[in-house]
Amino acid sequence: MKIFIDSANLNDIKEAHDMGVVAGVTTNPSLVMKEKVNFHDRLREITSLVSGSVSAEVVSTTAEEMIEEGKQLAEIAPNITVKVPMNREGMKAVKAFSEAGIKTNVTLVFSANQALLAARAGASYVSPFLGRLDDIGHNGLDLISEISDLFAVHGIETEIIAASIRHPLHVTEAALRGADIGTMPLKVVLQMLEHPLTDKGIDQFLADWEEAKKEME
Ligand code: E4P
Repeated sequence: MKIFIDSANLNDIKEAHDMGVVAGVTTNPSLVMKEKVNFHDRLREITSLVSGSVSAEVVSTTAEEMIEEGKQLAEIAPNITVKVPMNREGMKAVKAFSEAGIKTNVTLVFSANQALLAARAGASYVSPFLGRLDDIGHNGLDLISEISDLFAVHGIETEIIAASIRHPLHVTEAALRGADIGTMPLKVVLQMLEHPLTDKGIDQFLADWEEAKKEME
């Protein structure tokens, strides 16, 4: 499973990028709102740093407007993926983008049927939201398994982005259940690095090295 950073914060994206783990970035209007920057300018900055897919979401509500808005976003850089909501107008827009060779990420997916429709409309990626399903007492990870099985049975090549990831266990489980990509905040990437035995081991090795150096003097 590839790692995407779910953020519009340039420092967070850069930190993960410098660690070599970032294959792409996803943004959404709520993440952009937190940054208080011009969206297109920020997309230029992100796409000049990250060469993989960078999802930029449309905020129009009709297919016609989504197509116009998405085309403008796609002009910012060749690695922009247009993020489109999972609804009737969104599917019409996905069809048009697919025909125009523009990559799409269908967002706010909460059922396997929605994922199937998005894939058949021509989506490059579908984004099932794990955390938000967990929040209402459903098992978000089961949705990843269902979509993964469904796509495998029918040879569907649309990639599954496990989204709304809240903690490291979501990452492990989404990967085991067949998500192609997990998109997560930097905080989760940093949590994934941690293990108390690693820290203890590093401290011990450094302390022993200090002792070893004394013998070498
Ligand atoms: C990513 O594409 C989604 O917009 C994001 O993961 C949503 O996460 P949230 O449910 O934590 O807002």
